[in-house]
Amino acid sequence: MGEVTVVVLPGDGIGPEVIAQARRAVDAVAPAAGLSITWREELMGGCSIDAHGTALTDEVLAACKSADAVLLGAVGGPKWDTTDPDKPRPEQGLLGLRAGLGLFANLRPVKPLEALYDASPLRRDRIAGTDLLVVRELTGGIYFGKRGREGDMAYDTCAYSREEIARVAEVAFRAAAGRRGKVTSVDKANVLESSRLWREVVTELGASHPDIELEHILVDNAAMQLVSRPSDFDVIVTENMFGDILSDEAAMITGSIGMLPSASLGSGTAGLYEPVHGSAPDIAGKGWANPMATVLSAAMMLRHSFGAEEAAAKLEHAVETALAQGALGRDLGGQMGTQEISDRLLALL
Ligand code: IPM
Ligand code: MG
Repeated sequence: MGEVTVVVLPGDGIGPEVIAQARRAVDAVAPAAGLSITWREELMGGCSIDAHGTALTDEVLAACKSADAVLLGAVGGPKWDTTDPDKPRPEQGLLGLRAGLGLFANLRPVKPLEALYDASPLRRDRIAGTDLLVVRELTGGIYFGKRGREGDMAYDTCAYSREEIARVAEVAFRAAAGRRGKVTSVDKANVLESSRLWREVVTELGASHPDIELEHILVDNAAMQLVSRPSDFDVIVTENMFGDILSDEAAMITGSIGMLPSASLGSGTAGLYEPVHGSAPDIAGKGWANPMATVLSAAMMLRHSFGAEEAAAKLEHAVETALAQGALGRDLGGQMGTQEISDRLLALL
């Protein structure tokens, strides 16, 4: 794809530590892919609140809009924790980016590596063969609905339009076509009206994808099935908050949330890529953070935004090989620190 610009938002906590290593890994594979990457680093999250009083400035949003991709570390920390609705929160930056860039589909693949089977809290025979993809709706639902306080009461509303449901479901059907051909749509249609519309629209869309097997399950049941038979899932599509919760649960199948990458995509090729884990303020600055989820997120960026399949596969293969060779961070019961893991990846690349 030639010359591309990536806006990097290291964010807070361990964000800058893992981002630095992901950039190193990408720089190692980009030239062979014919990619010349201009990295443009900007503030977003708590660090931006400290500098500008807001988690996401108009300038940074504009820079992200004009970039070919955005690579994000993590945002948040106790320093900015508040229940005061009038105070800025780091997460507002992330939500502002998702809405501002129109990133309605969040892809979170979950595939435990054989080397990590024993790191999972689930038994080896339960997780063996698991290879699933959570497609989470990212710009609608309760995250963006009307909210407020009235006297002693507070409320948040969950609303979805047909269009919002259809476009994310379409992403799920297409993803399934390139995988094992199955979509599980998760809702709470026995209680929620927005879920009944969700089920209706997904069912209609399913009719135009006759080769894809479609099943609907309720979210409480999905939470249970995810730990009892995770390998039966292929693509899971669900609304914003259910996807938030289920993707953290699914992450533990791999043994550590420190391993999971994600891509947030809109209708074009640009996207936002970030590890699923948070800013882990408790270990920030200690050099313990596992950079693998960020490296794997950068691999998703190379694939989805730049079409650099081979470079992406190189990064994924290096992570897999490093793990098989015992390069385990503390999150996986090992001893290796951020720099050491990154050096191992670079050596393999
Ligand atoms: C995630 C996170 C965010 C979310 C937070 C930080 C706002 O938990 O990306 O899953 O809830 O979407
Ligand atoms: Mg979450």
